[in-house]
Amino acid sequence: MTLHIIDTLLQLQSQKINLIFFIVMLGGSIIILLSFYLINIDSLVNDTFLPVKYKVMGIGIFIVIVHILLTYVVRLIFNKLQHAKTMICKQNEELRKIDKAKSEFIAMVTHDLKTPIVPIASYSRMLIQERFGELNDKQKEKLKVIISSTESLQNLISDIHDLHKADLDKLKLNLESVDVNEIVRQSIETVLPLANRRGVIFEDLTTPGLEINVDKQRMIQVVTNLIKNAIDFVPVEEGVIRMECQLQDNNMTLSIVDNGIGIPKEKISNLFNRFCQLDSSNNGGRSSSGLGLYICKVIIEQHGGKIWAESEVGKGTSMKISLPMTPSIDLADHSQTKKQFEVCNTESQLI
Ligand SMILES: Nc1ncnc2c1ncn2[C@@H]1O[C@H](COP(=O)(O)OP(=O)(O)O)[C@@H](O)[C@H]1O
Ligand SMILES: [Mg+2]
Repeated sequence: MTLHIIDTLLQLQSQKINLIFFIVMLGGSIIILLSFYLINIDSLVNDTFLPVKYKVMGIGIFIVIVHILLTYVVRLIFNKLQHAKTMICKQNEELRKIDKAKSEFIAMVTHDLKTPIVPIASYSRMLIQERFGELNDKQKEKLKVIISSTESLQNLISDIHDLHKADLDKLKLNLESVDVNEIVRQSIETVLPLANRRGVIFEDLTTPGLEINVDKQRMIQVVTNLIKNAIDFVPVEEGVIRMECQLQDNNMTLSIVDNGIGIPKEKISNLFNRFCQLDSSNNGGRSSSGLGLYICKVIIEQHGGKIWAESEVGKGTSMKISLPMTPSIDLADHSQTKKQFEVCNTESQLI
């Protein structure tokens, strides 16, 4: 309430505020003097001793002076507040302009930069397939570098694009009922070439039949991201990545478990912040933006779910996604599916 009054006063023009303060100063002084005068009349009627009357009037004048000084000081403070408010408004305006320029720049980066990369990526793939003639080993080796760098660049651009959308609250979901196993299968397919290069084995313990209400492409993006991270941190030729599902109450939890280098406990809480990268000695020597998990978190939270990590250094990491089940899906009707999943989880512990 008081803040509201101050804010309304701050919005007034300087002349109006001066007038208000002048009225308060003058009005206050008159009221005080009048009160003390009336006290004096009262004293006269009661025939009180004369010097006491002067004293009372003196105190009245003293209080008026204090009142005038206080009003003046408050006016000065108001001046300062008004000045600060004008500065903040100006800075806000400038920030808005900078933000607009940033948005335009990101839009340019994500759209205009994407376009020339498409032919680079597709021609490199055609070249390595030797569609334009035979290549020697050295040329193939260099082409592989071009292809993987182009992929990294495309991923980075799409991460920045998603980040920008998330910032603007424009990451819209296209919800549909999707089989979890289908999401996992398609995600594995996407990363299969990379996994094969690093000799990673997948253990998909999810079974068809469990449907959740999600944006299929966004969920594939999340699971692909988590699997890609896992691939990066498991030992070459010894990596095992396991996908498993659990049903509890009205939630489905999908875990992506790896036997990689693990994450130190004190760093787990920062993992899902934007631009989070663990120190270079711990990142498998790869180039990264640190945006992947942040984007996963935004997408999962938009679905009303949760994402977190459990990890032990040297043993591996388990990335977990928990999503509310589709309201239309009655868990009782899925008792069969639930049993299957529980069996899967028991098996997974034996592996
Ligand atoms: N499965 C994992 N095992 C070990 N470290 C991981 C794993 N997943 C993520 N991390 C750590 O979290 C950091 C952030 O991951 P992410 O947000 O996907 O960004 P990026 O992959 O671009 O580095 C990674 O740099 C890595 O250090
Ligand atoms: Mg990543």
